Amino acid sequence: MKKSEEALYNAPSEIKDIEIINTFELEDKAREVMPHGGFEYISGGSGDEYTLRQNVEAFNNKGILPRVLADVEKPETKTTILGHEIAAPFIMAPIAAHGLAHQTKEAGTARGVSEFGTIMSISAYSGASFEEIEAGLRGAPRWFQIYMSKDDETNKAIINEAKADGATAIILTADATLAGNREKDIRNKFVYPFGMPIVSRYLTGTGEKMSLNNIYAQSKQKISPEDVKFLAEYSELPVFVKGIQSPEDAVLAIGAGAAGVWVSNHGGRQLDGAPGSFDTLESIAKAVQGRVPIVFDSGIRRGEHVFKALASGADVVAIGRPALYGLALGGWKGVKSVFDYFESDLKRVMQLAGTQTVEDIKNTNLFKK
Ligand code: GLV
Repeated sequence: MKKSEEALYNAPSEIKDIEIINTFELEDKAREVMPHGGFEYISGGSGDEYTLRQNVEAFNNKGILPRVLADVEKPETKTTILGHEIAAPFIMAPIAAHGLAHQTKEAGTARGVSEFGTIMSISAYSGASFEEIEAGLRGAPRWFQIYMSKDDETNKAIINEAKADGATAIILTADATLAGNREKDIRNKFVYPFGMPIVSRYLTGTGEKMSLNNIYAQSKQKISPEDVKFLAEYSELPVFVKGIQSPEDAVLAIGAGAAGVWVSNHGGRQLDGAPGSFDTLESIAKAVQGRVPIVFDSGIRRGEHVFKALASGADVVAIGRPALYGLALGGWKGVKSVFDYFESDLKRVMQLAGTQTVEDIKNTNLFKK
């Protein structure tokens, strides 16, 4: 991004710890500091935003039965996923264009995530290059999320770069072959104020001043199990298929060589009318039968949500929008504050529910209304 454009877009630049009462208030505060179009792009959903709301509402469809004679003190949130030991059962979700939230872009998020001690997902639609993100990550683990090009040679080049950067897994986002009906973005005439260095090689421009729809249209729109097979064989890395909402797709993904299933409805940004992501998790976990790890996202806002997702079959969850609100409000320190908040909130829930470890959460039966 040229200096003149940086000044024009004017994302926040403050770096500080933030106090978090809950992530809903965090969103309200981020709205006050972020440029309007960027905020609505990040916070918004598609259509009536029914699915966006259901992502949080759905957690109320199951309850946590407190166990009070469980002999628990100082619950332990550490866990492992694909060989990485992480401080808590949550990682950073792949999100495009962090520069909308803060001048430090993805490098800021990466620093907060690495200081906390978990995995950074780097989006193909990142506004920063791998090198720039590394300045924040400083060797911490990272997974690479791909929006495929229509051309497999280009896909190979992108995978090569991600591997050279040290990615230990590939996340194929399969639910976004065109953009959902994002009415806020249409109203705001939202276009990205800066380019996307990782995918600019397959776009007609750099990504700058382009709409999401335009960029999706230039990415691969016809995704099948063959693509999963291609990515797994070419990358020789574990491949997660992200955007899984049905048991049938989970089975297809595993059959095609996926090493992980990522349950998500893209934060309610794609098909409005889809169920809350949490409502789909249990049946998918039954179909997966523990064959591969499950990552869950879309709607995680509290420790209770992390707990319920793990008790319903997820191995870890991914934090999306709240981390970007933290970035907007406090740069890398704000991101770290968000992850710290989730950790302490989860510890409180674990203590009150009578669970000492992440394994204990996974073995908990939730109360079904
Ligand atoms: C990009 O992935 C978006 O959902 O806007």
